[in-house]
Amino acid sequence: MKKKLIAGNWKMNGSLAGNETLVKGLLAGLGSPACHVALCVPSIYLAQMQALLNGSAIDVGAQDVSPHEVGAYTGEISGAMLNEFGTRYVLVGHSERRQYHFETDALVASKAQRALACGITPIVCVGETLAEREAGKTEEVVKRQLAAVIHTNGHCISEIVVAYEPVWAIGTGKTASVEQAQQVHAVLRAQLKAATPQADRIHILYGGSMNAANAAQLLAQPDIDGGLVGGASLKAADFLSIIASAL
Ligand code: 13P
Repeated sequence: MKKKLIAGNWKMNGSLAGNETLVKGLLAGLGSPACHVALCVPSIYLAQMQALLNGSAIDVGAQDVSPHEVGAYTGEISGAMLNEFGTRYVLVGHSERRQYHFETDALVASKAQRALACGITPIVCVGETLAEREAGKTEEVVKRQLAAVIHTNGHCISEIVVAYEPVWAIGTGKTASVEQAQQVHAVLRAQLKAATPQADRIHILYGGSMNAANAAQLLAQPDIDGGLVGGASLKAADFLSIIASAL
């Protein structure tokens, strides 16, 4: 069985001093984890993370990447720049970027493509809003979001990570039930299987109010290969406990 992946998404949280305390706390309690571990941090802290995490069992991740290679794109950060700071993963299409920055499925797909071209693993986030779930559109929405990435990336699709994050479960303390989560993960796995013979090696993470109390149950589901953790990744003890339950 493949090792699970637990990725923290710090979102727009952190400070030089606070990051150092958090990372030192994580490294002190980490030991040799049974899973892969990553921290997706604000880009301005990538250099700090590269220094703090160098040689450790925690990989560095970013939260966004430009779809462009280089040039006149003020405010953007390229895949090549992320590479210079040892970035192993990058989130693309997080619901907060889809919502607040109007990112379309096509843009998310081209960001994933740029990451792959730079040798960085895109963590492609998909998920339905509460209104979409209540309208019975969950499958349609997540399949449409993933289809765009599959269409643009062809056979490279086996190199991505997918994160299912129901928007209504993010930061709300409302987790999807294990049945709800597993059901959507199975749908995504089937879609990936239709696209590549290597779908079983693709990590499909669950995200949305994952915490120390509910992680083990979610991670025990057959198609849940890890977690994308927001709030609980900002506290060393909570994040370590999630990591310890990813067997
Ligand atoms: P929370 O764990 O805070 O709900 O955030 C989930 C998330 O959006 C991770 O990307």
